[in-house]
Amino acid sequence: MASIIIGTGSKIPEKVIHNKDLERFVNTSDEWIRTRTGIVERHIAGEGETNSGLATEAARRALEMAGLSPEEIDLVIVATLTPDMQMPSVACLVQNALGAKNAGAFDLSATCSGFLYGLTIADQFIRHKPSQKILVIGSEVLSKRVNWQDRSTCVLFGDGAGAVVLTGTSEDRGIVSTHLHADGSLWELLNIKGLGTKYPVTPEILEKGYQFIEMNGREVFKHAVRALESVTMEALEGAGWRGEEIDLFVPHQANMRIIEHLRNRLGLSREKVFINIDKYGNTSAASIPIALDEANRAGLLEPGSKVLMVAFGGGFTWGSVAMKW
Ligand SMILES: CC(C)(COP(=O)(O)OP(=O)(O)OC[C@H]1O[C@@H](n2cnc3c(N)ncnc32)[C@H](O)[C@@H]1OP(=O)(O)O)[C@@H](O)C(=O)NCCC(=O)NCCS
Repeated sequence: MASIIIGTGSKIPEKVIHNKDLERFVNTSDEWIRTRTGIVERHIAGEGETNSGLATEAARRALEMAGLSPEEIDLVIVATLTPDMQMPSVACLVQNALGAKNAGAFDLSATCSGFLYGLTIADQFIRHKPSQKILVIGSEVLSKRVNWQDRSTCVLFGDGAGAVVLTGTSEDRGIVSTHLHADGSLWELLNIKGLGTKYPVTPEILEKGYQFIEMNGREVFKHAVRALESVTMEALEGAGWRGEEIDLFVPHQANMRIIEHLRNRLGLSREKVFINIDKYGNTSAASIPIALDEANRAGLLEPGSKVLMVAFGGGFTWGSVAMKW
């Protein structure tokens, strides 16, 4: 018995900020951003657009594809680091907005790896009771946690949501292997220190900019390359696959140079690597489910396709999920 994805959906805010728009308020250039990151534009939540609103719409689209009504959902998991509020969870807001009245709901915090953590948890539930239907969502409004005066971070991130519905199957398909890792000793390299209970809202904390993403890009880059390479190899071993057998590699979209490094390491052609970082930038927990939905709707995934997903993020956290679609 294994867990398969029976529906995908995503919701991207309409408002677009092109690299050229950023040139107007920070000392950067379209050329620098493209060559160092692969990003060309990103979408930003507009007035009144919330994390839970994006997540709900992505979930509706996934449910529609799965042919399920909200009442049939047993559990809603939302991976996010930018919830609407401290309490309640985004998952509860989504559960209510959908009318998923028979579902449990919770958020999980594992930054950019959050969606893969969510898939791994859902897989455990489904192995225990295969008839369950679980929504796993990655959703972020990072634009509200970015310092738009800090060129080293504001060019990188974007907003959006992606969702999948999982259930059990007895066919020879589904999640084959999962691997999760963390190293909290390196948390300072990528963080949002403020607005939690350690640094609550005070004028001093806001003055220090603790409400914003802070990142040592160069160090994070080094660790990300190393961890992603290692977890990719671990995933192949866990699944019993060779690199060239992968039909679609879906890495977290943080930096095109990292993705290219992994592609070369796996010996994959460009068509076998899903890339949309140019359009959306780094949407953290939303990046892989948005990519999966776009790949699915573009007809790149067929039953049995070998899909490998890998992610790395603040914490640090990293992980992989290998599945036969
Ligand atoms: C952020 C990142 C794109 C920066 O690229 P980089 O090649 O490492 O660049 P550096 O940080 O070394 O900076 C190089 C120079 O560009 C400058 N720079 C930084 N941001 C810039 C920008 N937006 N525009 C122009 N110049 C910029 C720096 O100030 C530095 O200048 P200096 O050499 O005069 O000091 C890259 O480090 C990265 O992608 N890191 C990992 C992000 C990631 O994977 N996150 C995953 C978890 S979400």
